[in-house]
Amino acid sequence: MSRRLFVNLGENSYDIFIEDGLIGRVGEAIRRIYAGQKVFIITDENVHRLYGKTVEDSLKNAGFVTDTLVMPAGEATKSFESLPVIYDKLLKFQLNRKGLIVTLGGGVIGDLGGFAAATFLRGVPFIQIPTSLLAQVDSSVGGKVAVDLPQGKNLVGSFYQPKAVLIDPKVLSSLSDHFFRDGMAEVIKYGCIQDAAFFEKLSGLKSRTEAMENMEEILHTCCHIKKTIVELDEKDLGERMLLNFGHTYGHAVEKYYRFERYSHGEAIAIGMAHITRISEAKGLTEKGTLQKILNILQNWGLPIQVDISDPDKILGAIMLDKKNLNDRLKAVLLKKIGESFLYDTTPGFFQSNL
Ligand code: GLY
Repeated sequence: MSRRLFVNLGENSYDIFIEDGLIGRVGEAIRRIYAGQKVFIITDENVHRLYGKTVEDSLKNAGFVTDTLVMPAGEATKSFESLPVIYDKLLKFQLNRKGLIVTLGGGVIGDLGGFAAATFLRGVPFIQIPTSLLAQVDSSVGGKVAVDLPQGKNLVGSFYQPKAVLIDPKVLSSLSDHFFRDGMAEVIKYGCIQDAAFFEKLSGLKSRTEAMENMEEILHTCCHIKKTIVELDEKDLGERMLLNFGHTYGHAVEKYYRFERYSHGEAIAIGMAHITRISEAKGLTEKGTLQKILNILQNWGLPIQVDISDPDKILGAIMLDKKNLNDRLKAVLLKKIGESFLYDTTPGFFQSNL
């Protein structure tokens, strides 16, 4: 079976295709939406080893001329410093504004390649082929592209929508358990913020195998929630902030441990538990919600709290968050599972001895 979602953003609209085995048919899929000849692929070493040849062959068989840039795997690649390397290779390939960039990889490659596409020649079309669970359910959809500066993550970026997102659930079988779990934290987030029935369904899944058996539907539900929110608030001024449930505290935890101890999904899991612990204690969240979240996170082997010796440093990281204005921030809280809202508060809200 295959699924298709239309992201309705006026002249920046596009389709998300979710289809088992699509990685071997990307050439045909791209041929239907791109009339040009040249395709420049940006990927990383790990993904290239697994899927590079499949994607290149599929594109060539569909009549495209390709060139591939293989970057080192890992967050360091998302640095501003990577951009000249990409621009140089694009110039040598003589890609013009009628060309196409394809990002093949996880969130790092999607964000970096998307930003290169947004800026090279003032904008070249690009297509996302996300290969991690986290990228398939979150970063590949919605047009947030960025690179990191030494001062912080995602500090230089843009809203630049892809021309399509091609998702093959089958590629998730090559993810390590760690990265699968990592993506599940974002999947669980969608149930928390918007879909109680989906949360119940996820709570009933007992293993990665069971999740994979339902993956097409899981990806479809997550991408449907994301695209609906992005359609309402492309530029992240209102509803889109709901996607950041667990992220304010989670980002601070990631920073506090210098991005070494917890991966993004793990930190988000801690963040979702932390904020719900506080909001339920304050009577802002229906009683019993926290326990449901703790149960599902623990079921997936995700952490639910950190042992922090100096909570002020976590608060310090929250205060420095670029989204805060005059010491005010919008905390994403749950009324109950499946219903979220923005709560105007201060960083002190996150301090808790619970
Ligand atoms: N990852 C959150 C967003 O796309 O807004």
